Amino acid sequence: MNKAQLYVELSKKNEKDAERVFKKCAGIVKWKDDCAVLDIGCGPGNVTNNALVPALPKAALIVGIDKQGALVDYANAKYATNDSRLKFENVDVVSDGAFVANHREVFHHIFSFYCFHFVRELELALRNIYTMLKPGGSFAFTCSMHNNFFSIMSHMAKMEKWTPHISQYENYLNPYESTPHPDEDIRAVLLKVGFQVMDITMDPHHWKIPFADASEFVVSRVPFELPGEIQREFGSESADVIRALRLNDVDENGTECYNLKFTALECLAVKPPLV
Ligand SMILES: C[S@@+](CC[C@H](N)C(=O)[O-])C[C@H]1O[C@@H](n2cnc3c(N)ncnc32)[C@H](O)[C@@H]1O
Repeated sequence: MNKAQLYVELSKKNEKDAERVFKKCAGIVKWKDDCAVLDIGCGPGNVTNNALVPALPKAALIVGIDKQGALVDYANAKYATNDSRLKFENVDVVSDGAFVANHREVFHHIFSFYCFHFVRELELALRNIYTMLKPGGSFAFTCSMHNNFFSIMSHMAKMEKWTPHISQYENYLNPYESTPHPDEDIRAVLLKVGFQVMDITMDPHHWKIPFADASEFVVSRVPFELPGEIQREFGSESADVIRALRLNDVDENGTECYNLKFTALECLAVKPPLV
């Protein structure tokens, strides 16, 4: 299985979270029938296709963007060929100035699910989002904070064998990953950029990932390309690290699990004026 297929197999919880966040927004935001919608960090497109497309009005136009080209190719091949309302593009929301300039005040609604914990230049990303939103447009996002997945990365980055491959993982961390009150920090950045913050919450999440899937889960979530030939070994050694860090236990059915623990930050912001 390639990385995109692995991700789709192991992301049913992401789809459920996106559906829940969408429902929360629907209490505050009115969807225009032919609204233009952007999903940032869409990965292989399953969340965009399975959670957003069915929930949005039938005439909505939906664009998913991701900086990993292989995931975007997968998303286009799997979900966009039979649906003219949906397309995916290979775009980095931080550095792709041309995409931002070409989409100034184009989108009524922007979503981003579990992407911003990988964005170090958060303020620049938020400025770009602000630029691409229409006045009155909404921006809803989730991201993880205080995530024990990064303990695995940190541990492996110190192993001589893996240092050349993942030592740069910290460049992919949100600046507030380990601050005590990331909701307050992120609210301050949103306000600085010009957003009105309608709702921001933090909740502890605990996902029990069967150990049989743990190594593939880690490989599919690494936020940059790992050369194909090392993926299997990287995955199996990450499983050893999960045990070494005691992030595993055995559930009530006797199944060994990786206890993925993080705080989910969920936010709804609007570009004034709210219409
Ligand atoms: C954990 S996946 C989430 C995928 C999907 N949204 C979901 O909820 O399952 C995070 C995605 O964000 C993408 N990403 C990270 N930084 C990005 C950036 N600066 N611009 C665009 N995509 C980015 C990664 O490539 C990855 O596919």
